[in-house]
Amino acid sequence: MTDLLHLLLRERQPRSVESLALALQLPRETVAMQLDALRSLGCTFDEHPQRGVLLTTSGLATWAEAIEHLSPRRVEVYRSTASTQDIARRWTEDGAVVVADEQTAGRGRLGRRWMAPPGSALLVSYVSTLPAANHDQITAAAAVAVAEAIEGLAVTPVRLSIKWPNDLLAAGRKLAGILVERHAAAAVIGIGINVAAAPDTIDDATCLRQIGIDADRLLVLLEVLRQFDRRMADAATGGHAAAWRARCLAITEPVRLRSDGRIVEGEVLDVDPSHGLIVRTTTGQIIHLPAATTGRV
Ligand code: BTN
Repeated sequence: MTDLLHLLLRERQPRSVESLALALQLPRETVAMQLDALRSLGCTFDEHPQRGVLLTTSGLATWAEAIEHLSPRRVEVYRSTASTQDIARRWTEDGAVVVADEQTAGRGRLGRRWMAPPGSALLVSYVSTLPAANHDQITAAAAVAVAEAIEGLAVTPVRLSIKWPNDLLAAGRKLAGILVERHAAAAVIGIGINVAAAPDTIDDATCLRQIGIDADRLLVLLEVLRQFDRRMADAATGGHAAAWRARCLAITEPVRLRSDGRIVEGEVLDVDPSHGLIVRTTTGQIIHLPAATTGRV
């Protein structure tokens, strides 16, 4: 059944039961039964008497198995939870994943709230056990992974940029955000991607649908995980640095920042995938400001 779901997620045209059976090398009756099983797990279809079936929404009840099918890992899927970060923070298995349809206390960087109407966004936390990679490296590698996953889903090419440290932008509008929280043995990487709607709580937000990507959230999630499994492995060695630099927007205007509780004013000389912002302060000092504790004021 999960092979069938993986196939249907990528289809843009209706497929007959016969052609699905042929592609999966299964009897027609088995495919018909699997389609019924998917319906009973909440999947919905456009049904065309002549042309066949087109998946319109994957049921949440199919997600855990579909994720484990990509590669075995610990997975939990919630209809509603406070924050996926709070569940994943207790875990230490590399690649483990927590997903929710809705969060009642989703959070962003530096204590901000992250709001998304139920069903509109992909809300996921990914556990990475990378003792060697620092916070900036993990944030940068995660941003590259999410950008590559989304671009890979576009039929008409799109190019995403990274606004340091953790925002993914499409044509200047926020499409996704990343939150890295470190715990004893692991980093928990929270990813919020606006899929079907842009939250009205953020100025200048957009969503995948608005930029022409009409993909089911499960498909977006599978592509994100595929890129994460690849990119996180080389976060510590800087394998993502060139891809990150190519997407990172330059900060050219003078900045006023809060870093670790103090205010810093100056100009950004460089944005570095391992060391954060390199700033010349108004008093002429050159300092590094890490992503974990730095934000604009
Ligand atoms: C930001 O833009 O500041 C980061 C947003 C990160 C949001 C995601 S949604 C899944 C995970 N759980 C949370 O509570 N936050 C992250």
